[in-house]
Amino acid sequence: MCRNKDIAIYYFSATGNSLKSASVIASRFDKSELIKINRMNVMEHPGSPIIGFVFPVYMGGVPDIVHHFLENFPFQKDTYYFSVATYYTYKGHTLPIVNKMLNNKGFRLSYGNYIPTVGNCLKEYEVKENKRPSILKKSTIITERIADDIKNKTEKQLSHYCVISEKLHKGAFKLFFKDSHRKFTVDNNCIGCGICSKVCPVDNIVMKDGKPQWEANCESCHACVHWCPKNAISIGKSKGRLQYHNPDVKMSHLL
Ligand SMILES: Cc1cc2nc3c(=O)[nH]c(=O)nc-3n(C[C@H](O)[C@H](O)[C@H](O)COP(=O)(O)O)c2cc1C
Repeated sequence: MCRNKDIAIYYFSATGNSLKSASVIASRFDKSELIKINRMNVMEHPGSPIIGFVFPVYMGGVPDIVHHFLENFPFQKDTYYFSVATYYTYKGHTLPIVNKMLNNKGFRLSYGNYIPTVGNCLKEYEVKENKRPSILKKSTIITERIADDIKNKTEKQLSHYCVISEKLHKGAFKLFFKDSHRKFTVDNNCIGCGICSKVCPVDNIVMKDGKPQWEANCESCHACVHWCPKNAISIGKSKGRLQYHNPDVKMSHLL
């Protein structure tokens, strides 16, 4: 990790929306660093005066991997902490949870905001191709505004944390995405390229006899489904639905 950048942004992203947003924010600064959240992060404060956490909303809350990361992050004083969550239609209770986690350690988010964008939860729905450009256009405008806010170190109050709401959202996530790893299927179009295994942010996919197999640590992020070059992977009833990734993000950016 390089130290003493103007800004360090930790991100989690399966299909690139959150990475794109993090990149736009970072581009406002001369010296910036983007750091992927994984289960192996070295937990040291990067020494930057501005530190951000950018990730997608999962069932109205914080993805488990981000939750775990924040629980272990060594927060320090005199830092402007911000968080930005990308989402499709329902932002739920996401950023008050992040703020609460900081509060528990004696810190707070100086700024939190949401970016609506194309939804990637193929297990539940697909976003039709003709709808995507207008959603992405709006998303770009909002991202630019948020990047300006962060460049100016704007303070933004978040709505109050509510424990019941967090529990309800967590319960719903468990209900919908319990045992996700058992819900993947691969069809005969699979060419055994292993891209699914490479894009999995938690190394949960092993290739066996040229086919992917999912272990039990799935984050339900859908990266494997969306990046498969043959659209050979389905989750639940997603077969036949249109894959998605942010048009400005290439697979190599996520690896
Ligand atoms: C498991 C899962 C749960 C999701 N839950 C929500 C949700 O509650 N509300 C919402 O608006 N979008 C939801 N989404 C959509 C993502 O938040 C949205 O597409 C996000 O921009 C994806 O970011 P990424 O491209 O960086 O992975 C969900 C997506 C997944 C995979």
